[in-house]
Amino acid sequence: LVTSIKLFDAVDSTQNIAHQLAEDGAPEGTLVIAEQQLHGRGRMGRSWVSPPSKGIWMSLVLRPNIPLPFTPQLTLLTAVALCRSLRKMTSADIGIKWPNDLLIDGKKISGILLESTAEEERLRYVVAGIGISVNLEQQDYPPEMLEKAISLKMATGQTLDRTAVIVSFLTEFENLYGLYQQEGFTPIRTLWEALSVSLHRRTSLITPQGPMVGTPIGLGEHGALMLQQDNGSIVPIFSAEMGLPTD
Ligand code: BTN
Repeated sequence: LVTSIKLFDAVDSTQNIAHQLAEDGAPEGTLVIAEQQLHGRGRMGRSWVSPPSKGIWMSLVLRPNIPLPFTPQLTLLTAVALCRSLRKMTSADIGIKWPNDLLIDGKKISGILLESTAEEERLRYVVAGIGISVNLEQQDYPPEMLEKAISLKMATGQTLDRTAVIVSFLTEFENLYGLYQQEGFTPIRTLWEALSVSLHRRTSLITPQGPMVGTPIGLGEHGALMLQQDNGSIVPIFSAEMGLPTD
């Protein structure tokens, strides 16, 4: 899958570089990796802590031949690939919180940010941004973040070789991406649901339409979270900030 690797020392955000390369015609599989990001981006306009030499900050250019509304499926696929590879590398109990945060004991160890561009309702390309807090120490985080975030090293005591983690992730990703292109989303959905910590437990969500409460029961066709509300009705959630289970 990977056609070229561009390694950088300090960058603004690997997302910006990957977008620029993609706009300039870079093929699928172009991978941008940086030692440090000065303005790493997270979901919902948040910033992403990306100190030098301790984490994996990378962005992969994809040019999948899928209808535009299927793009969120790739976010879930990326989360499954990352979760499977990190479980193999650490033997830690890592779960997926919808849509794509990986958690150990309720604390986030990685983030995925998929950004796509479209033209006339057609998907042009996707930049899949992956941030893995591998060997960060407590002092690398702003104190208020420590309630919600943790590194693999802090959680497991293991110092991991970042190159080995990247190779393991790319191997998983390539396999699942191939499976997805051959068989569609169904096998990916099954894998995601098995690794998810978000299903079948009553949860609160902040959606663009306001706060909601309900029990997530699975993934919909396009990757939406199907939320069963207390009155029994089931609604698809396409974008939300999810709380932890209320039980
Ligand atoms: C999130 O959980 O909010 C998503 C975080 C995504 C972080 C990665 S690090 C590599 C890539 N470059 C960025 O600026 N963001 C993504």
